[in-house]
Amino acid sequence: MLVTGANRGLGAALVEGLLARGAGTVYAAARDPRTAAHKDPRVVPLRLDVTDLASIRAVAERADDVDLLVNNAGVSGAGSLLTADPERARAEMETNYWGPVAMLRAFAPVLAARGGGAAVSVLSALSWAAMPGAGAYSASKAAAWSFTNTARAELREQGTLVVGVHLGFMDTDMVAHLDVPKVAAVDVADRILDAVAAGEEEVLADGPARALKEALAGPPKGLEI
Ligand SMILES: NC(=O)c1ccc[n+]([C@@H]2O[C@H](COP(=O)([O-])OP(=O)(O)OC[C@H]3O[C@@H](n4cnc5c(N)ncnc54)[C@H](OP(=O)(O)O)[C@@H]3O)[C@@H](O)[C@H]2O)c1
Repeated sequence: MLVTGANRGLGAALVEGLLARGAGTVYAAARDPRTAAHKDPRVVPLRLDVTDLASIRAVAERADDVDLLVNNAGVSGAGSLLTADPERARAEMETNYWGPVAMLRAFAPVLAARGGGAAVSVLSALSWAAMPGAGAYSASKAAAWSFTNTARAELREQGTLVVGVHLGFMDTDMVAHLDVPKVAAVDVADRILDAVAAGEEEVLADGPARALKEALAGPPKGLEI
């Protein structure tokens, strides 16, 4: 089992959740592996930057017994696609879209060798919604949602469960500056691990995610938050 961005936020909650459910080895991948160190000996910290292909290759070679990959690492804050620095939007796309793509390309054969396994994409309610000032993030998560859906279809034959996770606001560093209702990371981690255990392909982890999924069938204005 391997979690990206395992050192804090949802990634750290996922590591704890996996341990609590009796996981064997949990690879805790982080840009600085010292920040993913854990007192439980089942946790193996690995250095991983999802924007660095060499780092991804090294991790896929080392963690060749993974049967659950959680593409959790993500960034936000690049701002508006109309007014902010486009280089920041590109960087966000590198992490939130190309990172998970490169990770799943590297790990699909590993999962196949383990009988299929599962790959989780941590997406967002903003994969669907428009929030002024967050266009770069939304686009990156929409692209990652599209990739997740295609990967699900492509990997079905090898028996890999592909799970897309959508949520609005979660109580982590990423949205610490926002004064809005937030779900707890530990609850989202539980929902994700329950879904994997039950073979479910989609997690709508909170009210905003459920409402926005329904709003997809309505007029575009309903997707603005
Ligand atoms: N929080 C929310 O409200 C919310 C809502 C919807 C979706 N999400 C998604 O949930 C996921 C987890 O986010 P979070 O809320 O836990 O945020 P967070 O507390 O800010 O944690 C983000 C994690 O991603 C890691 N990361 C960033 N860039 C990376 C890279 N290039 N390579 C490897 N790791 C990298 C960070 O590592 P460092 O410590 O090295 O920076 C950190 O571990 C993200 O995909 C996020 O987009 C969050």
